[in-house]
Amino acid sequence: MSLPKPLIIGNWKMHGLSAELETLVRALAKRHAETPKPGTLGICPPFTLLIPAKAVLQGSGILLGGQTCHAKGQGAFTGDISAAMLADAGCEIVLLGHSERRAGLGETDADVKAKAEATLSAGLTPVVCIGETEDQYVAGETLDVLGAQIDGSLPDGADAERLVVAYEPIWAIGTGRTPTMDEIAKVHAFIGERLAAAGVSGTPVLYGGSVKPDNAAAILALDGVDGVLVGGASLKVDDFFTIYAAGAGTAA
Ligand code: 13P
Repeated sequence: MSLPKPLIIGNWKMHGLSAELETLVRALAKRHAETPKPGTLGICPPFTLLIPAKAVLQGSGILLGGQTCHAKGQGAFTGDISAAMLADAGCEIVLLGHSERRAGLGETDADVKAKAEATLSAGLTPVVCIGETEDQYVAGETLDVLGAQIDGSLPDGADAERLVVAYEPIWAIGTGRTPTMDEIAKVHAFIGERLAAAGVSGTPVLYGGSVKPDNAAAILALDGVDGVLVGGASLKVDDFFTIYAAGAGTAA
């Protein structure tokens, strides 16, 4: 089953203690219940909060996601978590290949592909993240880099109904800088063509990198942008809900 567009997904990264179940998760569920919008709203908190967050989100229509998973279903992999465990905790999506994991932990395209296949096997939807460094952007290599990441990271047997791609220019993450709207539109058009060539035409493509309440409407209005992946602003209920409302073309 495909996820209704636009998709507004919050990546909490390594933020969030149990106190945030009330101040963030319950508060978001309340806002969503009061003023529901078309589209898909989801959050990816840290592993420790998944099960209690699921309890808070029960019946809210807000999706829960993991921030990564192991490629194997179980085994002697200390400190890791499997897609089956994320499914068991109530997740429906898994972020994979975030640049913070590619750069900081050496995740390769092949790793991301294997994890995406494990995610599909567990019945979850992979959100495959791709993006260029600032050097690559300046050198005009963005499309080559993204094309190679798409070709290397997509799971075998991918199906547009059960796949999401997130374009996150690394230099835009947490910096307050974004590409121009024209650049985002061009990159998304390229990604859409590359996905079509890979047989997964219609896969939702999200933009991520310094999405804030004041730029979300313009970004979400662009052709080829099917949603946003939000870091810092997803940790503030008002900001995150305003971004979600922007996707629906309505003021919060
Ligand atoms: P920021 O929204 O904080 O720039 O983070 C983007 C991101 O990395 C989402 O995955």
